[in-house]
Amino acid sequence: MKRIAVLTRDCAGVNAAIRAVVRTACLYGIEVLGVKRGYKGLIEGEFTPLDHRSVSGIVNKGGTILKTTRCPEFLEKEAQKRAVRNIEEARVEGLVVIGGDGSLRGAHLLATRYNIPVVGIPATIDNDVNGVDFAIGVDTGVNVALDALDKIRDTATSLERIFVVEVMGRDCGYIAIQVALAGGCEEVLVPERRFDIGKMCDEIFRGNVKGKISWIIIVAEGAAKAEDIANKIKEVTHLETRIVVLGHIQRGGSPTAKDRVMGARLGNFAVKLLMEGHSGKLANIKNEELVALPLKVVEEAKQIEVESYYRLIKILT
Ligand code: F6P
Repeated sequence: MKRIAVLTRDCAGVNAAIRAVVRTACLYGIEVLGVKRGYKGLIEGEFTPLDHRSVSGIVNKGGTILKTTRCPEFLEKEAQKRAVRNIEEARVEGLVVIGGDGSLRGAHLLATRYNIPVVGIPATIDNDVNGVDFAIGVDTGVNVALDALDKIRDTATSLERIFVVEVMGRDCGYIAIQVALAGGCEEVLVPERRFDIGKMCDEIFRGNVKGKISWIIIVAEGAAKAEDIANKIKEVTHLETRIVVLGHIQRGGSPTAKDRVMGARLGNFAVKLLMEGHSGKLANIKNEELVALPLKVVEEAKQIEVESYYRLIKILT
């Protein structure tokens, strides 16, 4: 194997993974091309050479040095064929795709439909990649949200207010559940669980009568809009309620040690898998061991455990 390429989405820890891919490949005399701007760059043939030096000083940086973009165009066959042509013309013999479920489905497609040797690495704050306990970026995302929540609590308590805090998680309530439990929140709304807003408002109202003065409610963006929930609470309880939408601050920032370590291990492992002739694999860590899952697992939706966490959140309130 003489040349590989690496393509990414963004979240904390992705740069650590790029660094590991590049430095591992360099060690074995394999050239690395970075694909600029994700699948868009693959379609347009935007490659940049990466060597040992070009990944210096990035291990602690959030985002991706390769830049990225959403690329719905890649769903079209014509665009896929252009991408494959570019891979062949650049004499790329293996591709590492670092990203969430959308990017990894693209990787699976390249491996199965076009026979491109591809290894995926899960990286998304949503933690919604099937078969994967932890994706790169999750630990940082949860901790960033928790840090913000702790600050919000100061105001919630001081001013005796209700806060509705919206966290990321398009189809998955993982961040919301973790943050609600770790932050000692009163309620959490996630897409995986039906909720009764009337019942919740009633609880808040009755609690307030008994002297419970501040509430923090976490809402996963895929479950509801913080604004709608806050409006309903105000309408029913007439209590002062504020909203905070944490948004993209959860996806950026300096990666935690856990995300850097995962990036390093999975980046190194992905290159080794390609060198051993594997394709259509997902580099993963299970019980601290490196394992290669079939990339087709990403085609199924991930189910996360919600009920036991939810019960615990309510018990500890
Ligand atoms: O998939 C990761 C994620 O951060 C989701 O939590 C969020 O819904 C989405 O991406 C936001 O996408 P964009 O940055 O394209 O607006």
